[in-house]
Amino acid sequence: MRIGVLGAGNMADALATQWARKGHGVRIGARAPEKAVALAARIGHGAEGGTLREAAEFGDAVLLAIAHDGVEEALREAGPVAGRVLIDCTNPMEPPFERLKTGAGPSAARRIADLTGARVVKAFSTCPDTVWRMTPPEFGGRPLGVPLCGDDPDALALVRGLVSDLGCAPMDGGSLDRAALLEATTAFLVGLWVAGEEALAMLPPLDAALPREPQRASS
Ligand SMILES: NC(=O)c1ccc[n+]([C@@H]2O[C@H](COP(=O)([O-])OP(=O)(O)OC[C@H]3O[C@@H](n4cnc5c(N)ncnc54)[C@H](OP(=O)(O)O)[C@@H]3O)[C@@H](O)[C@H]2O)c1
Repeated sequence: MRIGVLGAGNMADALATQWARKGHGVRIGARAPEKAVALAARIGHGAEGGTLREAAEFGDAVLLAIAHDGVEEALREAGPVAGRVLIDCTNPMEPPFERLKTGAGPSAARRIADLTGARVVKAFSTCPDTVWRMTPPEFGGRPLGVPLCGDDPDALALVRGLVSDLGCAPMDGGSLDRAALLEATTAFLVGLWVAGEEALAMLPPLDAALPREPQRASS
């Protein structure tokens, strides 16, 4: 698959490196193209670097790995992506993680979908880049779960494949409207982690969270 990457920072580096190693074609784009070229050279495996527009035009899928405040400007520079699969890993948050930068309005993912007309899938926003760099991201013998929120079945199937390429387990996060909940959940989790709390400890396993009715023995 051909993957265009908007941004040449930590998330672009972490995810594009994994996908390039898996044999995907990768083109990094940045507002300062020399940063994209330098990142592509570090990644190797045939990765290329250039402008945001070149990266956006390249991909079967486009990863949006831009700081929240720069998203609109970067998308303007990237050019039209209507109908394309756009993976949104952005987090509209900042310390002290008390409210989202999107306020009470639509999620970042919904704004990006409305702005571009792209088939947006929210994914990879829930963990730090250091986790996405792990090969594979696995804890206690269990692959990391990656929730996906989106409305387009084909786009979701494509991104599920990219999640599996990392050695992670795709999770059905529901429609793009649920991205608002995912963005808020991520901000809450990061707040816990920054406070030194083990966020994992607050989650019971599925069987305990949603106990099944005991099966009645048939007479
Ligand atoms: N890092 C993480 O652990 C992590 C985890 C999950 C999600 N995320 C989300 O992923 C996104 C990228 O994070 P990151 O850690 O990769 O950030 P980063 O290392 O700071 O890189 C941000 C990228 O955005 C670009 N950018 C910023 N403003 C721009 C603008 N106006 N026009 C064009 N490009 C612009 C930067 O370009 P310049 O280099 O030219 O400034 C850079 O390429 C963010 O939305 C973040 O919330 C991050």
